[in-house]
Amino acid sequence: MSKNLDQRFATAVELALEGGAMAQRMRHALGPAHAKSAIDFCTEADRAVERLIRGRVTAQFGDAMIGEEDGGAAGERVWVVDPIDGTANYIHGTKRWCVSIAYVHQGAIEIGVLYAPDNDLLFTARRGAGAFLNGRPIGVSRLRHGAAPSVEVGWSERRPLSLYCAALTALMERGCEFRRHGSGALGLADVARGHNDGYLELHINAWDALAGILLVQEAGGVTNDFLADDGLTHGNPLFAATPEIAGRLREVLAAAG
Ligand code: IPD
Ligand code: CA
Repeated sequence: MSKNLDQRFATAVELALEGGAMAQRMRHALGPAHAKSAIDFCTEADRAVERLIRGRVTAQFGDAMIGEEDGGAAGERVWVVDPIDGTANYIHGTKRWCVSIAYVHQGAIEIGVLYAPDNDLLFTARRGAGAFLNGRPIGVSRLRHGAAPSVEVGWSERRPLSLYCAALTALMERGCEFRRHGSGALGLADVARGHNDGYLELHINAWDALAGILLVQEAGGVTNDFLADDGLTHGNPLFAATPEIAGRLREVLAAAG
């Protein structure tokens, strides 16, 4: 691993921890959330955490950054950041939200870090070096539990509800159960740690997905090529799964596409 990547990895971890702690502190005195849509919100904490990360990344490395709240342009070296993924959960006072930070160099996701402060869960991955939870290696389920495969199906208003319902039907027809917990990033982390067998969403943005995609890949799972066709700036359909059900999820996405 190059020194530059080592430094960026250390900074990504520091920023995820600091950003998570900042959002936790701010939660007690938040003004009203700004509703981007009926199910999509932004709070003062989302903005403050994104500013913290952008300031440090720019000052320390001069890299490009794309963030959920303030946007940004791609570059050869680009950080892709969701300051709070699971904002609706955060607003409701539940624990399922996280800071998500990915670093992409020349089109390859090199670093993925997720921090869920309320449960003190730090997920980390570097390309080719495995996936970890609080420093311990993690792996996908391989369906060792012996139950029906369970898949989280993310939802946003970026695709019609009828397609979402059709995807649930197609999934159940293929013998899978479904769930939805409101954080795409943590949904992917659950696949990486074997707590769930797959994640599927008809359209998701890069800031929600990139860190989690690297986690799943490094944990032995399979994903579609999310960065194809400008996924970095426009988002894409996504599946991520333990290899045993990857074919089924690919079919469901193809049917809904
Ligand atoms: C959303 C969540 C949700 C996913 C959506 C995202 P937000 O992000 O990750 O689970 O299904 O696609 O937009 O609004 O909580 O940052
Ligand atoms: Ca998000």
